[in-house]
Amino acid sequence: MTKIAANSEINLEDKPSNYIETELNSFAPRLLDWFAENGRHDLPWQQHQTDTPNPYIVWLSEVMLQQTQVTTVLPYFARFMESFPTVQDLATAEWDTVAEHWAGLGYYARARNLHKGAKQLVEVIDKTGEFPQTLAGWEAISGVGPSTAGAIMAMGLHHYGVICDGNVKRVITRWAAIDGDITKSATTKDLWALAERLTPRENSGLFAQAIMDMGATLCTRSKPACLLCPLKDDCLAHAQGRETDYPVKAKKQPKPSKFSNALLIKNSDGNILWLQRPDNGIWGGLWSLPLQFVEKIDGKISGKTTAKNSEASEDTPLKVASNEKIYETEFTTAEQIINEWLDKHKLAAKAVSKNLLDDTSIKHSLTHFHWYLTPHSVTLNAKQTAEITEALQAAEINIHWLNADDAQATLGLPRAMVKILE
Ligand code: ADE
Repeated sequence: MTKIAANSEINLEDKPSNYIETELNSFAPRLLDWFAENGRHDLPWQQHQTDTPNPYIVWLSEVMLQQTQVTTVLPYFARFMESFPTVQDLATAEWDTVAEHWAGLGYYARARNLHKGAKQLVEVIDKTGEFPQTLAGWEAISGVGPSTAGAIMAMGLHHYGVICDGNVKRVITRWAAIDGDITKSATTKDLWALAERLTPRENSGLFAQAIMDMGATLCTRSKPACLLCPLKDDCLAHAQGRETDYPVKAKKQPKPSKFSNALLIKNSDGNILWLQRPDNGIWGGLWSLPLQFVEKIDGKISGKTTAKNSEASEDTPLKVASNEKIYETEFTTAEQIINEWLDKHKLAAKAVSKNLLDDTSIKHSLTHFHWYLTPHSVTLNAKQTAEITEALQAAEINIHWLNADDAQATLGLPRAMVKILE
């Protein structure tokens, strides 16, 4: 019995027998029936029960949901909607306020794109009187890829739109036993073709909501609830008992590890020095403790206490990194200033570890590496506080002296910083 070929070559134009046609054509009705009976209908961003959908809500929620689970997104979405009920509110908000609302949700480039995207959307609205009405119009907005654009078209405007996000890929690679590597563009193309073939012209928004919901609640990554699935009778992966073999993804290289000291530089009031990170790079625009990159060279620890002073002093356990380039790439301008200032005041040794890790170190995993951060406290007197403040301000670096509670309450801190404070 040939269904959809169990390989990455799914040429839907060439192959469909009547049998396949039936299955392809009944896919959407079965899914929609399941959704009507068993799906989630109370998620605050859903627009399938209104005739006047709000594309702002769908855009905002889809960006939040791009790499994050529904349960995590819910409180963030609520706060965003409370503070920025319209796209105009978001566009005119200060970046710091947006960052503070996003803090903890991760993948911060999404927050930057949202803020930039809001401004772009307001420009479109000012010009045309409405939100973009085409797929290309949405794809032109920062941070909106083809699937998010399809979701907004379908769910946010009730126009025709196709989605092919992680949930959809999992559902359809299983259903059709597509064993091509989903990180390859040839497979992506096939999956889009299949998603398009399965999406009904009418009700594509309801279908998008239904397939994402099914993917998130039944067709889950590790323990799919196949017995409850409306597609189980013709799901090829299920027939083979190989549900969790799909989607096929090339094995990722193990992530490298990176080590840094996180400096709790305190003034005599016990307030801590916070730096706003540069827009480009990790945690762009968010607030962080000054970090000191540490690496192992020839089995020894090498932290950079200063770029200029190439002699390690008696009391520093660190061998100064021989590589200027590392200093330039791994330290922000502010961190270079702080490092050199600490070194000049013979405070550097207090701010470094003998080991890459100790009991106070925290591990924080980012997209491309695991980051181990070890906190170190250095207390400054009033004169020193004034001096370092002046040095940073002269370089136009945004800083705050705030205790841990106030920093958490008022600054956009990445999750890793909260972990350190805790
Ligand atoms: N994941 C991405 N978008 C979603 C949505 N609208 N509902 C549930 N899960 C999602």
